[in-house]
Amino acid sequence: MTTETLLLGQTLKFIGNPFELTPREAVHHERKGAVLLSGGKIAAVGSADTLRKSNPCAKIKEYGSGLIMAGFVDAHVHYPQTGIISSWGKRLIDWLNSYTFPEEMRFADLDYAKSVARLYLDLTARHGVTTMASYCTTHPESVNAFFTEAQSRGQRVIAGKTCMDRNAPNGLRDTAQSAYDDSKDLIQTWHGIDRLSYAITPRFSPTSTPDQLAALGHLWAEYPDCLMQTHLSEQTDEIDWVRTLFPKARDYLDTYEKFGLLGGNGLYGHAIHLEARERARLKEVGAGLVHCPTSNMFIGSGLFDMKGLMADGQRVGLASDTGGGSSFSMLRTMAATYEVGQLRHAPLHASQLLWLATAGSAQALHMQDKIGTLSSGFEADIVVIDLASTPEIAQRANRAETLWEAVFPTIMMGDDRAIAATWINGALQEPVIY
Ligand code: GUN
Ligand code: ZN
Repeated sequence: MTTETLLLGQTLKFIGNPFELTPREAVHHERKGAVLLSGGKIAAVGSADTLRKSNPCAKIKEYGSGLIMAGFVDAHVHYPQTGIISSWGKRLIDWLNSYTFPEEMRFADLDYAKSVARLYLDLTARHGVTTMASYCTTHPESVNAFFTEAQSRGQRVIAGKTCMDRNAPNGLRDTAQSAYDDSKDLIQTWHGIDRLSYAITPRFSPTSTPDQLAALGHLWAEYPDCLMQTHLSEQTDEIDWVRTLFPKARDYLDTYEKFGLLGGNGLYGHAIHLEARERARLKEVGAGLVHCPTSNMFIGSGLFDMKGLMADGQRVGLASDTGGGSSFSMLRTMAATYEVGQLRHAPLHASQLLWLATAGSAQALHMQDKIGTLSSGFEADIVVIDLASTPEIAQRANRAETLWEAVFPTIMMGDDRAIAATWINGALQEPVIY
């Protein structure tokens, strides 16, 4: 018999998109709400009174005024960069060469890869992140380590072997053929098993030859239901480099498009300095764009045009981009999203920030029917947020007259102390103390 669990607290459920509707129309909020979990799924969301009466045998978890919502979905991370997060003073290409590539080299060792995968998933669970799309390294071992660890936790994750056959050191380079073969083997081993999905992962066009991009384009055509994740137009110096490497390309996106790497199941990280043709093509195919604000400020890349891209009707998700990003926290990521919006004179509402970190990212990953919304039938990935987790936040939240005034101080000032509980696949995650 499956045991049922009833979580009691305030519930926040998106019933629409706050970029298209007012917060009142887009959100259902219950002050004394409840969420019934059964067999890894959300069985019901409703008022505490009603669900208590109809489920007298359910195990009760009382969260008081804690805010129960869908777990955070981080749409672009590099789990192998956990150990080099917050490395000082470089721009993108120097940062990759100085910090990232030497660390990624270590993931040829399966035991090392397993230890970092475990650490990364422990740390992110402490931040209420329940699903992420991760780049691994060139080594298939790094993918096996990540999927094995996620599978043991019943966690929904997306990951792929990062492919690079040029402009990277020996020991991190594969070839066009080995990238194709290894990625295909990994798809056949992992894709669609339990809650695991494979993403075909050319790192970015500067580190792939045209032959490798073409090989991965062919692979995607063979497995079109896989996501394809890569980087696009992150930094102006990077874009200049792409121009010299692909002199015939119309623009950066064309270096993917030419080789069959543009599509609705494509996820394009950063997408800051887009040209009009690129925006139009991304919209036309329904691609996912991923905003990585802490990374964009940390590496000095630029300011994502959230307002314009949303107005275009693009599919946008939110991400930490660990470890180019400077935090594992989706609260911090939402705060940075707000700050970037302010710098562009287009501040986002708290409901829009929370939507991006849950349903929006789920939509970018094409998983909006499974995760990212607190609704019956969805998978039981849940975060409970303490809206008064520090004296600083509490004194501000205490003055709040609306839900949004109560939530916003936690978005701006909250950290792992605000995460009262994380549930993955219907199981409470015990915080690991390091
Ligand atoms: N572009 C290519 N690789 C990377 C990476 O690892 N991080 C970031 N931020 N940008 C990249
Ligand atoms: Zn990245």
